[in-house]
Amino acid sequence: MEYLHAPVLVKEVVKYLVHDPEGVYVDGTAGTGGHSAAILDRLAGKGRLICLDRDPDAVRLSKKRLATSGDKVCLVKANFADLDGVFKDLNIRRVQGVLLDLGMSSYQLEKSGRGFSFSRGEPLDMRMNPDNDLVASHLVNDIPPKDLEQILRDYGEERNAKSIVRAIVRERAKRPIETSSQLAGLIDAVSPKSRRYRARHPATRTFQALRIAVNKELQNLDTFLNKIPSLLALNGRLVVLSYHSLEDRRVKRTMNEWEKPCSCPPDFPHCVCGKVPLFRPLFKKGLKPSQDEIDKNPRARSAIMRAAERVSP
Ligand SMILES: C[S@@+](CC[C@H](N)C(=O)[O-])C[C@H]1O[C@@H](n2cnc3c(N)ncnc32)[C@H](O)[C@@H]1O
Repeated sequence: MEYLHAPVLVKEVVKYLVHDPEGVYVDGTAGTGGHSAAILDRLAGKGRLICLDRDPDAVRLSKKRLATSGDKVCLVKANFADLDGVFKDLNIRRVQGVLLDLGMSSYQLEKSGRGFSFSRGEPLDMRMNPDNDLVASHLVNDIPPKDLEQILRDYGEERNAKSIVRAIVRERAKRPIETSSQLAGLIDAVSPKSRRYRARHPATRTFQALRIAVNKELQNLDTFLNKIPSLLALNGRLVVLSYHSLEDRRVKRTMNEWEKPCSCPPDFPHCVCGKVPLFRPLFKKGLKPSQDEIDKNPRARSAIMRAAERVSP
């Protein structure tokens, strides 16, 4: 195996996702196939798994890892926002469960050579799907400072956005900012001293913001959440692992709306709108990894899992 990403909350994912081992399931973010392998282990009889990833390297790596599962698994290079199109191509109407493990994989961070990590001198690309046009170096070098600042604020919640953008603009007037380490060094130099010695590198939020913008991560998640109710069978389950509050807030809000769709004014004695719950949450609060898991896999520290079951047709 070329590279393995340690899957987060893997036992819990399988427990809440696979309610019928003979069902059809989707891993919408296959990565290097860690969750997929565990789901396949739990399937029996007619059980099947469809694995998606927008990154061709991820599809290649999981294909290799899951080869022993034969025709129980089907791998597709696709965006989970286009899940309805994938179902059409595969002639599937509804499935028993869908998993999303959002964000990027350790492979992308450490081995892809696409500038996801601030500790490497790699070209500032950050595309999960190299067929897309937008690259991070375009955002850093070419767009108006106001737009860049907005990206850092909206997608990185970066409080220091103004001075980071000022430093970027000064630098790009002299020479293009071409590598991840060049950008990280620039941010480090303008960060308040108190931030420089923290556990998190001061460029963390800027890198997160650029990656989210390049890959349109929040738009894809919104599109997916809009489509998923019509793609899950009755009793079908959605399990989502998020790694920052921008993602988790969307998942939580959507699951709440599915659970309590009633649009009657709050002072009505009882419901007259007739909207019934579409999903029920499988547990109330978001589930977090144990300290033991975090010690073994520090990437798990920011994970939060939510799961819901379809309860009405
Ligand atoms: C955290 S990793 C998944 C790791 C995987 N669960 C495992 O055990 O190896 C996230 C993966 O999702 C993929 N991804 C992110 N956004 C996507 C999207 N909109 N559609 C399809 N794949 C996506 C990334 O390319 C990456 O490989």
